[in-house]
Formats: sequence, C-alpha cells, structure tokens
Amino acid sequence: MESIYYHRETQVFTLRTKHTMYQMQVRQFGILVHLYYGPDLGHTELDYRIVEQDHGFSPNPYEADTDRTITLDILPQEYSSYGIGDYRICASEILSQDGSDVADFRYKSYEIWEGKYSLKGLPSMFGTPSEAQTLSIRLEDSVTGVTAVLLYSVFPELDVITRAVRFENDGDRSYRLRKGMSAQLDFLDGPLDMIHFHGRHMMERMPERERLSHGVTQVGSRRGASSHQQNPFVILCRPETQEDYGLCYGLSLVYSGNFLLEAEVDQMNQTRVLMGIHPAQFWHEIQCGDFFETPEVIMTCTTEGFSRLSIQLHDALRSNLMRSPFVSKQRPILLNNWEATYFDFDEEKLFRIAEQAKKLGVDLFVLDDGWFGRRNSDFSGLGDWWVNEEKIKGGLPLLAKRIQDLGMKLGLWIEPEMISEDSALYREHPDWCLHFPHRNPVRGRYQLNLDITRKEVRDHVMKEIFQVIESCRISYIKWDMNRSLGNVYSTALAPEKQGDVYHQYVLALYEMQESLISRFPELLFENCAGGGGRFDAGMLYYSPQIWCSDNTDAIDRLKIQYGTSFGYPVSAMGAHISVCPNHQTGRSVPFEARAVVASAGTFGFELDPVNLSEEEAAKAREAMSFYRQTWKLRQLGDYYRLSDPFSNQDYVIWEFVSKSKDEALTEGVILRHQPNSPVFFLHLRGLDAGREYREIESGKVYTGAALMTAGLPLPLNYGDFCAFRLHFIVA
Ligand code: GLA
Repeated sequence: MESIYYHRETQVFTLRTKHTMYQMQVRQFGILVHLYYGPDLGHTELDYRIVEQDHGFSPNPYEADTDRTITLDILPQEYSSYGIGDYRICASEILSQDGSDVADFRYKSYEIWEGKYSLKGLPSMFGTPSEAQTLSIRLEDSVTGVTAVLLYSVFPELDVITRAVRFENDGDRSYRLRKGMSAQLDFLDGPLDMIHFHGRHMMERMPERERLSHGVTQVGSRRGASSHQQNPFVILCRPETQEDYGLCYGLSLVYSGNFLLEAEVDQMNQTRVLMGIHPAQFWHEIQCGDFFETPEVIMTCTTEGFSRLSIQLHDALRSNLMRSPFVSKQRPILLNNWEATYFDFDEEKLFRIAEQAKKLGVDLFVLDDGWFGRRNSDFSGLGDWWVNEEKIKGGLPLLAKRIQDLGMKLGLWIEPEMISEDSALYREHPDWCLHFPHRNPVRGRYQLNLDITRKEVRDHVMKEIFQVIESCRISYIKWDMNRSLGNVYSTALAPEKQGDVYHQYVLALYEMQESLISRFPELLFENCAGGGGRFDAGMLYYSPQIWCSDNTDAIDRLKIQYGTSFGYPVSAMGAHISVCPNHQTGRSVPFEARAVVASAGTFGFELDPVNLSEEEAAKAREAMSFYRQTWKLRQLGDYYRLSDPFSNQDYVIWEFVSKSKDEALTEGVILRHQPNSPVFFLHLRGLDAGREYREIESGKVYTGAALMTAGLPLPLNYGDFCAFRLHFIVA
C-alpha cells in the first residue's frame, strides 16, 4: 500500500496511515512547512490553512525582500533551527567554529523507499517493506554544509509514523550540535492539553493533565536515565478528549537517557512541540564526512480517545519494536527472593525457597541482589561478578543444578553499570567510574556509575557476566540500575568531547544489552532501574518486560500500573504478589486483590513461599492457574482502563478483550465497601454489540450491546480491597 505521496506541482508531501494523515509542504525559498497531523481528511491539501500577514517584531527572511508577510517566527515549520528569525523554542542549534550559532535549513531533495530506516546503535521500530514505507527529506544550510535529513517511516496498519533526524556534515569543518531534537510538531490551532507521567521512586508514572498555555512547558530528565520522575511518553489532546472519545496524539521517545519534551504556545496561539535528547549537558562534535543520528519518536493519533491511543501504541510496540520471542510466548511465572531475604541468605535458604516455590507451581526462581562479590549489604561488591562462595557454599553452579533438578528454571539479578568503592574492581581500577577530575564523587546508594563509555570497561563486565550465565544455565536476567548518573565526566574523553558522555553512555548501555541478548537469544530478559526508573520504549527493544516499581503494594500498584498502561503494554509491566503488611507501605490487602493486581502485569511472586499458610498457598495456586488460562488474552489482547483511580475512590477496573472479540475479562479491585451503597454499573468496552457473551462463572448470557451500553451491576462485596473478575466468552 502506498502511504507516502509527493505532489510535484504543489510540493506537498502526504503521509497516510489507515486512519491518519500527515502533511508538509515546500514553500517559497525552500522553507519546509508543516501543514497537518491528525485524522485522515481524504484527498485534500491543507496549505490553505496558512495565513500570511505582516506581524510586527517578527522578522522576514532576506529573500522575501519587501514582503513582510513571510516570517519564520509564525510559520509552522517541519524542523526549526536557531538564529534565523524564529524566536520560539527550536529543534536544532548548531555551533560553527567561527562562533556563530546559526543554521538556515532549506529543502534540497527527498527519497521514498519501502521498509523502515534504522539508526546506528539506537533502538527503533523495525518493519518489512510490506509493513512500512520511508521518506527522507534533506534540508541543507548552504553556509556550513550542515544537512538535516528528516526521516519518516509510515506504518499504515498500525496508525503509526516514526521520526528521527540524521545530521550530516558535508562541509569542510567540524561543527558542534548543541541541540538536535528528534521530532517537531507545530499545531496551527489549539487549545491542547498535555498528559505527562511524573513520579518518584516507588510511585512512578502518575498521569497529570494540563492545558498548554502561553509560554513554554517542559518535562524531561537530566538524570542520565529516562527516570522515575518523568517519562519520555506524552499525550497531546483536545480539552474534551476522554478515554472513549476525542482527538489525541501519543509521542513516545525510543530512548533511555536524558530527554526533553517542550511545548510552546506562541503569540498566535499556535503550539510547537519538540521531543528529543535533552540539550542540557549535551553537545556532539560532527566531524567532516561524519553524521549524528537522533533517537526515534513514535507518533500515533486517533479521534477515539485514550483507550484507542493506548491500544495502537501497545500493538505497535509489541509487533514492531519489542524483539523478544517472549512477546508472544507464555512467560514463566517467577518467584523473586528480594523481599523474601534481602541480602540475608545462604544456599540452603535459597534452595528451600525454590523448593517451596516449585511445590506451589512456580516455573522460575530468580536470585536477586547479593549473590556476588562481598555483597552483604548495599555498601559493597558491585563490579565483582563472581559468586560469593561464603554465602553460596559450593558455588552457584551447584545451587543452580539443585534448583534445575527440581524442574525449575533459574534467573539472576545483575547491575552491570555500577561499581562499589568497596569492591575488588574499584581497588584495581579506581578510574573506571565516571568522575570529575580532582573532586570527590557524589554517591548514590553508596555506588558509582561505571564509565561504560569505555570499551574495555563494558567488555570486562559483560565477559564476567557471560561466564556466570554460561556456568549456571541461567534462563532469565534482571538488569538493574540503582542510581541516577552522577559525576558525569569520562577521563577517557578529551575535554571537547565531554558533552557527549550522557549520550555515549546510553549507546554503550544499548551495546551491552544487545551483546547479552544476541549471545543468549532464549533468555527471558527483564529491565529494572530501582523499579520503573527506566521504563521506556528504548528498553523494550531489548527486554519484553520491565520491573514496574519497587513499590509492590497492590493498592499503590493500581495507580502505577494504570499510569504506565497509557504508553506501554501490560505485558511489559513486571508485577508480583508480595507479603502483608507490605514492606513499602505497611498496608494489608487480601491475597485475592494482590493476585488480581499482579496478574495484570507479568505475573510473579516477591515473597518467601515457605511462610505461606495453606489457605494462601491454595489462593496462589488458583491465581497461577487462572493466569495461565488467560495469558494470551492479557498479553496479546486489547486493554481498556474502565475507571480512573485518581478520581474514583471506590473501585479500579480494567478489561482485556481478545482481538477476535470473542473473549473478554474484566477485573479489578473494589477499594471500599459502602453500606447501603448505590449500585455501580460497569460498562464493558470493545465487545461486538451484536454478539452474545456468556459470563463463565454465573453462566449468564448478555448481548455485547447490553454489557457495553446498559452495563452490569458491580458485585456487592463486603470489606475493603475486594478483588473481582468477570470472564466472558462468546455464547
Ligand atoms: C532495586 C530493584 C529491586 C531489587 C533491589 C536489589 O531496588 O528494583 O527489585 O532488585 O534493587 O538491590
């Protein structure tokens, strides 16, 4: 299917997906103007929407001569730059050797090809020639020879357009890229709301909706990771947009480091949105003949509200970004020993836990932090990736064999990007960490960041880790990262290259993870950064799941998983049943509610099964059995948020619907019982109105229309935090 068209006469480029359309035009003097992004409007060109008039204090390009109606300060541009009369936030800043910081990008040429572009060393969506078509547009600055190649891949079936920019240096001098955003979107009219996902360690991705107003709104991270505090996914929408109605756009940056999303509402009430690497503490020298590629932004749009937007994104990430075979395979149910033991274990304790987990029916035992070096607390050991035989007598291969002989798989926790000052590695290579010359480091969890931008450092760490994986037939790895980057300076780089360290760090991380998954393609790989401190599309290119939060309290998790679901598939969220009172909040929640929340992610346990009562063990078995029965629906189906835990204090409910619409599961937690309460009606979504559905437990049959429009009374449970579920199949 042709999805990219170029109209030679009008010089309009149209990118078309199943339901959306994107348009830009080359106008006078080769200025590339953005015309439109939104629902498909048919065969129309939207250049008539550009109204040119004289604006005081908005300057005009030199070529416009006496015509004062053309100004870059007002024109919606496809990719803006600093220094040429546009006073709004701009997408690029180039510093030349003569100290001038201007680039005047004008259209040169375009190319269209079947398939998807790729980015060197960076994760990005992939697509066959039948899935995607690509457009590249060359913009050039004639003085410096700097070229910005705008890349667009269109996935018509997914309603997705991806973007990135490649800066090339065709001139005879190097230049410094000080800002190079991945995508710019100029909206001619507003108002627009932005929903972004802020948070903190143990309370990640809390949605916040705000009206974009005159001036600049920014969200971003300067922590070296995409962070707990902000997330590189945002939604832009009309003020009236809701879950099931309205125009909205999703922008997801496929990047795991510093990022910036900035939006400016200008003097004409137009909105400019930019997304990319955070320009603070960033610069990159582009040598003659060399290039720099920005990370990718995945864009999707719908008029059907946030649920549809999320479904489009979930589909796109699952089918064309997440490469792991586990995306569509049943994941093993795991038990992780962290909250069961913390650092306090020996081989017998671990074996007893694994043995009991096996009796419960768990598939995989994950040995978390503390198995290596002299790691008896978080003061020491990071960097020493050899087994602590004082704790695990006989070594890890022996314990691994005992566990595997039970018929269980074994998983292992690692934190390859870190070094403890109290470690053999640090004593041997004190210069292998990021550190400013002549200064004491800033510590975080008593650990320092390894300077993985140095090849010898990452090669050394990965070699040691590979040895352990191979010696123990490890089937799962949890890759953690437990502090923000600090002391960001690499002694291996020249002073003029220090602006590159944050980005080189991310590239190095990607290279390390690539080496892991290409060496062990069968491995189930889970990312983690103190829970969800690096929960982004970049990480999902390497691992099909990410530990969603260090907060395992089921009631807090309702909010965390709700917020996360806007931009990321449920199957990517690591979620485990832990003990009560919960270790983070002290809250007690019935087992069934903990189970229903954990099974709305990649299901597992974070407790000592030896301590489970008979009754709890029975409930755990039931939860596992139901999860195994419904994994396909959860992992591959459509996900709907049926209530908002931030505005609804009574219940939190969600729903999975199979793609064929012949099965649906709605489940959730009724937060508090109210005596003599009004009846709450639950309105299902995504069903076939004309078909009949049978609720499996009660045997009752309803039409899809009745379930969606008239609704079902919520069960009247007694007590707080009651789990509930209703499972429907086509009658
Ligand atoms: C991080 C992780 C936890 C656990 C600890 C171990 O906080 O998110 O799940 O692995 O590290 O130190």
